[in-house]
Amino acid sequence: MIKIDEKKGIFILYTKHTAMILQNLAGFIGMAYYGEKIKIAESEYFCRTDVRPYTPEELPGEEVSFHSIYPHVYPFYGCGNYRETAFRAEQENGSDTCCLKYIGCSIMKEKPKLPGLPQSFTKNCNTETLILYLHDETAGVLAEIMYTLFQDSEVIAQSVRIQNQGENPVMLKKVLSSCLYLEGDLELITLNGTWARERYVQRERINYGVKQIGSINGASSHTHNPFIAAVRPETTETQGEAWGMAFVYSGNFTASAEKDFQDRTQLMMGLHPETFSWELEPGKSFYAPEVLLNYSARGLGRLSRGYHDFIMNHIIRSKWKNRERPVLVNSWEAFYFDFDAEKLLHFADTALACGLDMLVLDDGWFGHREDDTSSLGDWFANEEKIPEGMEWLGEEIQKRNLKFGIWFEPEMISPDSELFRKHPEWAVQIPGRAGTLSRNQYVLDLTRQEVRTYLFRCMADVIHEADISYVKWDMNRQITEAYTPTLPAHRQKEFFHRYILGVYEIQEQLLKTFPDLLLENCAGGGGRFDCGMLYYSPQIWCSDNTDACDRAEIQMGTSLCYPPSCMGAHISACPNHITGRNTDFMTRAHVALAGTFGYELNLMRLTDTQVRQIQEQTAIYHAYSHLTRGGRFYRLMQNENYIAWQFVSPEQTETLVTVIQIRNSPNQARLHLKLQGLIPESCYALDGKLYTGGQLMRIGLPVEPLWGDGVSRLLHLTIEIAE
Ligand code: GLA
Repeated sequence: MIKIDEKKGIFILYTKHTAMILQNLAGFIGMAYYGEKIKIAESEYFCRTDVRPYTPEELPGEEVSFHSIYPHVYPFYGCGNYRETAFRAEQENGSDTCCLKYIGCSIMKEKPKLPGLPQSFTKNCNTETLILYLHDETAGVLAEIMYTLFQDSEVIAQSVRIQNQGENPVMLKKVLSSCLYLEGDLELITLNGTWARERYVQRERINYGVKQIGSINGASSHTHNPFIAAVRPETTETQGEAWGMAFVYSGNFTASAEKDFQDRTQLMMGLHPETFSWELEPGKSFYAPEVLLNYSARGLGRLSRGYHDFIMNHIIRSKWKNRERPVLVNSWEAFYFDFDAEKLLHFADTALACGLDMLVLDDGWFGHREDDTSSLGDWFANEEKIPEGMEWLGEEIQKRNLKFGIWFEPEMISPDSELFRKHPEWAVQIPGRAGTLSRNQYVLDLTRQEVRTYLFRCMADVIHEADISYVKWDMNRQITEAYTPTLPAHRQKEFFHRYILGVYEIQEQLLKTFPDLLLENCAGGGGRFDCGMLYYSPQIWCSDNTDACDRAEIQMGTSLCYPPSCMGAHISACPNHITGRNTDFMTRAHVALAGTFGYELNLMRLTDTQVRQIQEQTAIYHAYSHLTRGGRFYRLMQNENYIAWQFVSPEQTETLVTVIQIRNSPNQARLHLKLQGLIPESCYALDGKLYTGGQLMRIGLPVEPLWGDGVSRLLHLTIEIAE
């Protein structure tokens, strides 16, 4: 619900449990409050500017002090605000000073569309959008700040549209999407890492000055994820305040926290300004991607579950999101590049014998690719390995009652490829400057329409010809030498945003053409794990690290924002190919169960016992997938000895608990795992024993001692209905 008191200049955005209060002071909109729902009685000075010399009414001659402290909802540069700004637009005279004054607002029932961008949708849900119109007369720039409320969620979606209403082009140099202000002591949570170590949680105190994370490598990146949370020092999983910002975008981004001299913290998120500018012609608009704001008064767990529900209901469009995903086996860790059709069909026969549903042919099936030095761009069957072609292979696999999935890395081009020989100019490169190789490849210039058309055609032909049910869309290198000859010199900084819009355009076209396709995004493991990608694919490959102990940690970090059912997770061979560690085969399955679940190992090397174990594991997957897909997710424990989590059915009638002993530490008291999300008065049964929900949540579930490292238990408790 949106309440506006125009006379007092107060705007209140209410979700079920939260309130955001904005205020108009002296023609500028400030953020007075965002947090737990409160009732507002009479008041005028929400924005805490009633201390001299900050009141514009009282001291009209002291505007700079006002701007330097005022919590502008969309802070602009040049009039006295020396904290981080959200907006800079260079005008004809070279100045990028703007003064965005409030000129009005509107409320819409329909959510405004953001052309070409991933965005939350409102299907099956009432929504309201508040649009604040902020105007700079001199530059002729109008900023529309949009906040959308959803009846079924605490999440507020914020985005910004900039219009050039003047007579001259303006050069947008910084267009962030969201800015929040919070009071009091806070800590910042970020998800950081690198390849094979994605989304490890860092929590640190927010001190004076600016703390910034982001990406300028073309993707949202392995290094920092486009999600941040601010929490109170005392906040835990189950208690305390937590605020979140998640970016619905997959390219370069910035997220920052700045504590100012009045101890107010400003959180910001948006397109990274270092690698961005955009020439906006008169009459044209620019749309900044959406940020999903969220607040929980009761801990981080609740913040996460709010995001999970929102992503499932308002971001992921794929019809697969509510379906049990086929249990697949992927050829990558099974064979890497070393396979041919005969081997693949043998693999398919074994997959069928293990009771699996789909075979995914990963890297190496195209051009003349024998290793990672060639053929990206040549999306036709590798004649050496598959002489009969993809249509034949598709038929053979389907004859064995398996679905067929395939890997592409569409955004790339190998110097050793037919495509490069024909179109060297399609690779991203700067004329006159040597290009920098990564994994022996260059990036294709997706800002060019002809490149996008070519890629779509290649992919569509293979998908059609081989009757492909699943596509893994990979992206294995970062962008360097960002440049496109299709833009003039002064517009080169449009490259990165145009590139990612190109990725979105092809994925959209694919999904329109093949509405049943199960798309999985991937970027060298989890280098593009964000809400932008989830708008197109219901799942993303979480990390190339499939070691069960590491994976459990990576998935826990990822779950701060993203629902488990969208985390690509496979059971691989031991010793693990990346860490060399051995973990129990069942532990690997228990970790993969909290994701999409599948296999990535050479099935032909399995013992009979392991084949039986696979049958057992897939039966467990089928038995509990309603919980891992549709249940609520709780993080229970994470320390050097244990990681534990829990799924609870929406009706709270059953729960699935996973405990992983990462490292055994002998002679400890029996683990009593405190569960969450149960009905305190109800009884839950496990192995013939009864526990009340209250008992399980306060005293905990006694867990049988485990022996070894990397071992686990999966415990399923169901409610006992009184006779
Ligand atoms: C990336 C992916 C892997 C695999 C390889 C193939 O690293 O994350 O899963 O597909 O590429 O080259």
